[in-house]
Amino acid sequence: MTDIPTSMVPAGERVLSLRGISKNFGAVSALTSIDLDVHAGEVVALVGDNGAGKSTLVKILAGVHQPTSGTVTFCGRPVTLTDPSAALNLGIATVFQDLALCENLDVVANIFLGRELNRFQLDETTMEVRSWKLLNELSARIPSVRIPIASLSGGQRQTVAIARSLLLEPKLILLDEPTAALGVAQTAEVLNLIERVRDRGLGVIMVSHNMEDVRAVADRIVVLRLGRNNGIFTPEASNQELVGAITGAADNAVSRRAGRRQPQQPIDGGRA
Ligand SMILES: Nc1ncnc2c1ncn2[C@@H]1O[C@H](COP(=O)(O)OP(=O)(O)OP(=O)(O)O)[C@@H](O)[C@H]1O
Ligand SMILES: [Mg+2]
Repeated sequence: MTDIPTSMVPAGERVLSLRGISKNFGAVSALTSIDLDVHAGEVVALVGDNGAGKSTLVKILAGVHQPTSGTVTFCGRPVTLTDPSAALNLGIATVFQDLALCENLDVVANIFLGRELNRFQLDETTMEVRSWKLLNELSARIPSVRIPIASLSGGQRQTVAIARSLLLEPKLILLDEPTAALGVAQTAEVLNLIERVRDRGLGVIMVSHNMEDVRAVADRIVVLRLGRNNGIFTPEASNQELVGAITGAADNAVSRRAGRRQPQQPIDGGRA
């Protein structure tokens, strides 16, 4: 038996579908008519400049904010994410950028934080065994589950936060900047972990500013700009294309990409 949840949604089927999601904060339009799909077993990278609306979108899916308009369909059903527990109960787990771990508590306590009392009436030994199983399956390099979070590295903390989010067996996991504070080796470890979660059939949304990380792990790259959709790319897209879509350069990346897709005769082996 495995402890990492295997999604019940058949691979390739749509887990999440957003249509026309808008969010106003007073006079500020943070999001305007956003469409987004995530399939089972897919990593979707959400990229965009500062203020593009990425975190706002994550918070809507986490049940923190309510959209001003638009529809959220989860596993084929229209849903209203009234609060964070509604999102969690449906199967949408979020790892926020600040991780929300308790520094002074150990790994087991953090994985089960706030969950000891409701669904899991478990004793310490059972919680410890479950924590180990979960971390082993993620191939996490945590020296001990009985050491406080304060003595773990950034990558190890991210791993604990992801393990914690998997405890309630979600179908979709949202990661806000999971590699932002990490060095090269730790980043690689967290990216591997994201792949393992994806391979279990979960849908993953990863917010990131790092194009290298995005390209390493994403199946699709969704660009937001000024609160609107501004292109969907494959990981093979060039930096120029992505940066163009992110910054809205006049030389439009989406149109260039479309142009390149036309069958063309290479001239002298170069790009037409
Ligand atoms: N609670 C709020 N009240 C008012 N305005 C907000 C609120 N949250 C976000 N905004 C505004 O919505 C827009 C989108 O912000 P958001 O935090 O979603 O951007 P982001 O893409 O996550 O940026 P970053 O890369 O800097 O994290 C910004 O103009 C921001 O000022
Ligand atoms: Mg943000």
